[in-house]
Amino acid sequence: MSRVETLIAQMTLAEKLGQLTMAAASHTVTGPVVADEPLAAIEAGTIGNVLNLIGADHVRELQRLAVQRSRLGIPVLFALDITHGYRTLFPVSLAAAGMFDPPAWEHMMRAIAQEAAAEGIAMTFAPMLDVARDPRWGRTVEGPGEDPWVAARMAQAMVRGLQSANLAEANALAAVAKHYCAYGAVTGGREYASVDLSERTVLEVHEPPFAAAVAAGAAAIMPAFTDLAGIPMTANARLLERGLRARLGFTGVLVSDYNAIGELMAHGIAGDLAEAAALALDAGVDIDMMSNAYRRGLPVALERGRVRTAQIDAAVRRVLTLKERLGLFDDPFRRGTTPEADSAIAARRVLARSCATRALIMLTNEHATLPLCERVRRLAVIGPLADVSAEMRGPWWAAAAPEGHVTVLEGLRAAFPEAQILHAEGVAIEGGDSSAIGAAIRGCAGAEAIVLCIGEAATMSGEAASRAQLDLPGRQRELAEAVLEHARAHAVPVVAVLFSGRPLAVPWLTERADAVLAAWFLGSEAGNAIADVLSGKASPSGRTPVTWPRALGQIPIFYAQRPSGRPSDASNRYSSGYRDETSAPLFPFGHGLTYGRFRYASVRAAPLEVSERDTIEVRVELTNEGTRAAEETVFLFAHDKLASVARPQLELKAVAKVALAAGASATVSLGLPARDLRFLGADLIPRFEPGEIELLVGPCAERARLIGCVVSLRA
Ligand code: NOJ
Repeated sequence: MSRVETLIAQMTLAEKLGQLTMAAASHTVTGPVVADEPLAAIEAGTIGNVLNLIGADHVRELQRLAVQRSRLGIPVLFALDITHGYRTLFPVSLAAAGMFDPPAWEHMMRAIAQEAAAEGIAMTFAPMLDVARDPRWGRTVEGPGEDPWVAARMAQAMVRGLQSANLAEANALAAVAKHYCAYGAVTGGREYASVDLSERTVLEVHEPPFAAAVAAGAAAIMPAFTDLAGIPMTANARLLERGLRARLGFTGVLVSDYNAIGELMAHGIAGDLAEAAALALDAGVDIDMMSNAYRRGLPVALERGRVRTAQIDAAVRRVLTLKERLGLFDDPFRRGTTPEADSAIAARRVLARSCATRALIMLTNEHATLPLCERVRRLAVIGPLADVSAEMRGPWWAAAAPEGHVTVLEGLRAAFPEAQILHAEGVAIEGGDSSAIGAAIRGCAGAEAIVLCIGEAATMSGEAASRAQLDLPGRQRELAEAVLEHARAHAVPVVAVLFSGRPLAVPWLTERADAVLAAWFLGSEAGNAIADVLSGKASPSGRTPVTWPRALGQIPIFYAQRPSGRPSDASNRYSSGYRDETSAPLFPFGHGLTYGRFRYASVRAAPLEVSERDTIEVRVELTNEGTRAAEETVFLFAHDKLASVARPQLELKAVAKVALAAGASATVSLGLPARDLRFLGADLIPRFEPGEIELLVGPCAERARLIGCVVSLRA
């Protein structure tokens, strides 16, 4: 008998339910705190998984209890939310998505996993793969943005990076792809609210990233807290059992979200904890995080004849198999015993800086304001986000201390050592006090440029951080207006550095500042990355993975809209649009400027007659007509103009990153497997439909900036 089966044969019911339970330590708080003390239960073998414990010593201590003192010595699985770094923080996922670079995503997650595993962690609740088209939703910051193709590529790269080729490696983490499925579409962008979507949108938009995670071998998946058309995902047997396991072939562990099984009672589909536990077990959920529903409820459900021992055994088998794959039985201390070498820590910091630099987006740059002149003598750095290390972390900072993350002020001081750099906060991030604005403006006297660091606090996005306003919080607009006014009067350029976990609807700012950077939250090297771009040491190359709205009323806004029977047309009143606002976004998906100037010419595709097994090669001539070297992001979209189902006006199908010196040209080649042009027919079954497909190439999803060609699909 295998080790796992031998153990199952020896286990009591309480020990089995312990393996299906995940309890929290209190080193970090990621949900409602409960008083349960896991130590005694670990020793008794009735808690098998722990989240939110930080530090190698603590992990070892608990592991020793489990391995040496519990009856069967089954090791504990330690898990944590490590989304964009453990101690060294990288750009938040939304920012990282803007790199549009799968090898970079993989590399970044590998470095992150190594750091966490070195302190004993074996599982991370990442990657977060929720497609988000409503920036009111705070968790937009944690995910891949609005596009399913990007989300699927990120899923693959991130799972590979976290898990490496072999989960048993001491530096590999089990990835928990989350939150299956469609959490990003909560009603009104309101956190934890109900989701009600067409099956087509679930299958075409929200599920593909999870299919990609499964194909990449994700060890675990977390169902969403939310309900989908009335069925909470934690109890959604149709999607979890028939969808994820049967259709997508997922064989790993399903970990509930925090107290999500208990919350089936609040959803109104379970009368008590035993029924809640039974519903989740029926749906195939293996680990109960923080509800104690399996430990307390399943014995009752068994007595009632509501569940069978075989169901419990199947879940235990999946959990123990994962522990075995992680190498925990062979050596429970393989993670968290050898501290990392200083050189590894330093190399991670270098990587964090390059990722942050590549994730930063230059939204506008009027009159080539940027890069700043090398010989600038006097700079004013104004705003509440100019010099706060803790804010650079973004939400979900795992084990990262508040200190030690480079601020804009620090970055600029290092980049311009000769310059005099003046600094004033002006206002707090939130709150109603504007009394220090006057002093901040006086502090700008004589400055040759003003860098205005404004936006959201790190905790204004992430979980439980939906917003009903998408403007700057507190009195920051007042500060920004005063700075813009002063700058106009003195003919000084203003560079706004905007921190946020979502796109902000700030046309008043982007239309008046001389240059605007979207920094999101760039992590430990934020200030150095921003200074690298401001000083011209690096050309910006980040692109926005979400459409930026001009106004709150445009939400949800995303590029892959269907045409409608009355497509938008400014000259026709009876066309799709608003009476008081354009339908156009503030910035389209994919937007981001560089220090180069790229010209696209002569798109060609081959073959022109395409069958399902072909791969289409699309080639475009790219020239950097600017005066500086830069990296361009080239997008390939498809448009199926005439099909049996109305198709989006643009669908992303491939991306290439190309670095070109000033004046240089290159032929860029993008590969498109024809299978990727399939879509779900009226019956929701994938089909490859004969007909013409427009292939469009360019720098973002703005139709007018794309050039294209046409191929014919053949049955
Ligand atoms: C709740 C969040 O929804 C989930 O993403 C996270 O992994 C868990 N809490 C654990 O912290």
